[in-house]
Amino acid sequence: MIELKKVTKCFGAKCAVKDVDLLISRGDLFALLGPNGAGKSTILSMITGLIEPSRGYITIDEKNLCVDRKEILNSMGILFENPSFYDYLTGRENMALMARLKGVHKNSEIDRLLDMVSLLDRANDLVKRYSLGMKQRLALASALISDPAILILDEPTNGLDPEGIHIILALLQDLSINKQKTIIISSHQVFDVESICNKIAIINNGSILCDGKLHELLKEDAQSCIVTTTRPDECKKFLMDKPWVKDFKFIPRKKNLKEFYIETIQRNRQ
Ligand SMILES: Nc1ncnc2c1ncn2[C@@H]1O[C@H](COP(=O)(O)OP(=O)(O)O)[C@@H](O)[C@H]1O
Ligand SMILES: [Mg+2]
Repeated sequence: MIELKKVTKCFGAKCAVKDVDLLISRGDLFALLGPNGAGKSTILSMITGLIEPSRGYITIDEKNLCVDRKEILNSMGILFENPSFYDYLTGRENMALMARLKGVHKNSEIDRLLDMVSLLDRANDLVKRYSLGMKQRLALASALISDPAILILDEPTNGLDPEGIHIILALLQDLSINKQKTIIISSHQVFDVESICNKIAIINNGSILCDGKLHELLKEDAQSCIVTTTRPDECKKFLMDKPWVKDFKFIPRKKNLKEFYIETIQRNRQ
């Protein structure tokens, strides 16, 4: 279980994350959703021990991240935006390096993971010849090399085409359901992750607007929610035939970022 209690992170006078409480249970596939600059990466950086909270605390399986840092980090696979590899090594060589770093000596494990992310037939190609989607899949395979119980993925679908997004999300769903991994994923695109996550939290300006089980958030007495998207037309199409969406307004904000404001959500309305 991962617990954040009143976690705040300030950079100078600016607080990027404010009083965040979150509870993520074993086996959850949890999505942290929000627009760019909302504080998603800052939260994930704190959960992975890259930076420390200014206030509040984080526990993982009841151990304090500040105290038992090394042990906790050993149980985590981490994938941050724009994964970096040695471009002039092959996919397999990059995996072998990561395996050595993590103290994993089974070569069969490298091939099993490359196969899982559909890269086995390209394993001997240089990484500089990989597409972004292939690099993201290699990053996922690398994050899994030590068979971590927890996977933390910061915008793993960012910049991918719809097929690339589908492949990554299907892999994560499989890891969650069949391998009982606890997975935390961030995204600024709600409907990408909506289909696979059992819990979500929506964050804006460093504060959690709402969190919980998806079906509970969408239950009858829910009033409204804001969905941000960079693909407004697709989002509109997605929302239109959902029985729980009564109506929605379209609020353009910034260039390339539009907001849909769903007026009312009524699950039982047919
Ligand atoms: N190291 C840093 N120093 C100063 N400000 C930062 C730093 N990291 C993030 N921020 C600021 O904190 C806010 C949240 O950023 P971030 O967590 O990266 O958002 P997201 O991942 O949701 O796009 C932004 O306003 C960002 O500019
Ligand atoms: Mg980010």
